[in-house]
Amino acid sequence: MFIMQITPPCALVIFGASGDLAKRKLVPAIYGLAKEKLLPQNFALVGFARSEMSDEQYRDDCRQSVRSFARVKPVDEGLLEWLLARTYYVAAADYGDERSHKNLNDRLGEIDRVHQTAGNRLFYLSTPPGQFEPIIGRLGRQTSDAANTFRRVVIEKPFGADLASARELNTLLHRDFDENSVFRIDHFLGKETVQNLMVMRFANSIFEPIWNYKYIDHVQVTVSETLGVGSRGEYYDRSGALRDMVQNHLFQLVALIAMEPPVSLDALSIRDEKVKVYRAIRPLSPVNVDQQVVRGQYGVGKIGDGRTGGYLNERDVPPASRTETFVAMKVFIDNWRWSGMPFYLRTGKCLPDKLTEVVVRFRSPPLTLFQKQCQSPVFPNDLIIRVQPEEGISWRLNGKVPGGQMSIKSVALDFSYKETFQVDPPDAYERLIQDSMLGDQTLFIRADEVDAAWSVIDPIEAAWAASKNVPETYEPGTWGPPKAQQLIERDGRRWLHSSTEEAEAIIACPI
Ligand code: BG6
Repeated sequence: MFIMQITPPCALVIFGASGDLAKRKLVPAIYGLAKEKLLPQNFALVGFARSEMSDEQYRDDCRQSVRSFARVKPVDEGLLEWLLARTYYVAAADYGDERSHKNLNDRLGEIDRVHQTAGNRLFYLSTPPGQFEPIIGRLGRQTSDAANTFRRVVIEKPFGADLASARELNTLLHRDFDENSVFRIDHFLGKETVQNLMVMRFANSIFEPIWNYKYIDHVQVTVSETLGVGSRGEYYDRSGALRDMVQNHLFQLVALIAMEPPVSLDALSIRDEKVKVYRAIRPLSPVNVDQQVVRGQYGVGKIGDGRTGGYLNERDVPPASRTETFVAMKVFIDNWRWSGMPFYLRTGKCLPDKLTEVVVRFRSPPLTLFQKQCQSPVFPNDLIIRVQPEEGISWRLNGKVPGGQMSIKSVALDFSYKETFQVDPPDAYERLIQDSMLGDQTLFIRADEVDAAWSVIDPIEAAWAASKNVPETYEPGTWGPPKAQQLIERDGRRWLHSSTEEAEAIIACPI
């Protein structure tokens, strides 16, 4: 996983080439790889979508997306032209249309000859999920004359909408592709700090002895966004925050925090350990769902500099929709390490900050030495892992305020990626596209991981579907509905993130 490898020749085909993800993320990431000299010389990019477009028009589109969304600016125009000289477009009558796929196959044959891409194909499915099936059905029938070539499918989330549909999709994929050729994306795994979680846990000896329920009071994972669903109402309304964020991004973070040390750093060992975590998540009964999971929906109010008419007034959202745009939940991982210790998760749209953070809160010291004379309890220690923005890790410890009196302040030992390494971390998609070209599956989701994650989600969705309750409305710019606060406050705890006021408070402890 961490060994520098040479990226093999290949043609990367983007299905859904005219979509938002392709424009904002994929094409700029491919340019980013070229900039870092991580693309092979023998490379070609092929867009495949339903819009009628010539190669030239598609190149213009790609030029615009790189100029608008490239991570490193100014754009190297010479390099961009190099990339565009190996960029092509195939228009599809429909994603499952036989003739369009034949055109694609013929085009790829020509590209192999012109760009020496050696018959290697990376098929990136960035279409709405309803199109996965027809595309995969056709791809399975594509052939290549060359020997020792690879044909891989990179597939965007959501991978199914529940356990049954995820299994069907897997069966379809496995009909023509073995598991080693299937790369299920969760772009959070490509984020630098997420990868750093493993380095932090397993390359440092200080964590292991305390990384369990005996020393940790609880763990919190917050993935909050300030924007609403924007133009994605149609997709989002069928999904909701639980399927869109918790089943994948938040659970992946939990798995990396909670997993046992893998026996090696290969994809098999790491994914074996992650899947064990999912399987150990305590299943929720309908009664537990009510007590442990809170759902909310944003109402009318202010977001950023503008206003929203509320989720129910978003484009393509039915006026009586019960889809949740916020989830907070408490889960337990029933294994030796985490027995009885809660993990609190929350995610939502239209919240006060855009941030992704894991807070590991340690138990208070066993002896109340300071507590006895301090005006309020001293703060427990927190380890804050900030995935975005400003990637980094902070330890929050208690320190004495200088002076004759005994006063205690919570202080932070900070590690900031940007300050330490003087670079912005690469975009998650750069890393993931590179790994899929290399055939390294470590940062992709295995079939059994997806199944295990849906097994936790399905009972919650079922309980919600059967319930007469609707998601509680919350005001945009707040941390979700009041029940989300109660969920954690009932346990004598509260939600934490890096800007909580503890960083400022001083506790006087007169002796
Ligand atoms: C996507 C979700 O997977 O992740 C979106 O579908 C969400 O709803 C996005 O906005 C958040 O990703 P990031 O990288 O901006 O935190």
